[in-house]
Amino acid sequence: MTGFFVTFEGGEGSGKTTQIGLLADTLRARGTDVVATREPGGSPGADAIRHIILSGAAEALGPEAETMLFAAARIDHIAAVIRPALEAGQTVLCDRFHDSTRVYQGLAGVDTGMLDTIEAATLDGLYPDMTVILDIPAAEGLKRATARRGQETADRFEREGVALHEARREAFLKIAAAEPGRCLVVDAARPPDEIAKEIAFHVLDAMERHRLAQVGRNVASALPVKPAAATAAKAAS
Ligand code: TYD
Repeated sequence: MTGFFVTFEGGEGSGKTTQIGLLADTLRARGTDVVATREPGGSPGADAIRHIILSGAAEALGPEAETMLFAAARIDHIAAVIRPALEAGQTVLCDRFHDSTRVYQGLAGVDTGMLDTIEAATLDGLYPDMTVILDIPAAEGLKRATARRGQETADRFEREGVALHEARREAFLKIAAAEPGRCLVVDAARPPDEIAKEIAFHVLDAMERHRLAQVGRNVASALPVKPAAATAAKAAS
């Protein structure tokens, strides 16, 4: 897989969509081929499932069944959009991915073992290279989400109370603390251009390291004798 895969996570009103747009502009201006997508949805099959979930129609089925629906949507999204883009060397920016399931469905009471099993089966090794977590106090994020929505009705998840949104914020920060190599936590309560600069700096740095690692792997695989094997043969003679 040669492309670079970045996911964006955070609570309601944390500015993910704005930041994905700004990062996509920056990367495209530098000649990078970018695919911006989102979950739940991002492919025709997953978009059909998105409607079932966000309308609240699946809520009565319980959090385990909802987890299965998010997984089904993700399987289609990966197969139809994400994997082909990465195989073609493109950079994929995805608004929400597996961490949202860990946080939202985890806090809805789904057993951690079940979540881990479903995650492994759904992703089949396709984990993000980098995850940007936009961190904002829940009350502030909800205020922004309400203002943005205007007259539209709140979706199934936006209707929930501020305490639950704050618990989700803590859960995202816990993931970041457990996986510091993958996750970048950004203070999202600042002006968008300031946040965008910080994200671009870290993403460009990570993409360069990814590129160099790729070059290293290509050179190693092109060598007639692997360096480790050559050293072992010399030591044995
Ligand atoms: P969306 O309208 O895409 O909102 P947002 O701007 O917050 O991303 O709604 C997606 C909702 O679905 C959001 O509240 C989070 C929730 N969700 C889960 O519960 N689990 C998941 O795995 C994903 C991807 C999203």
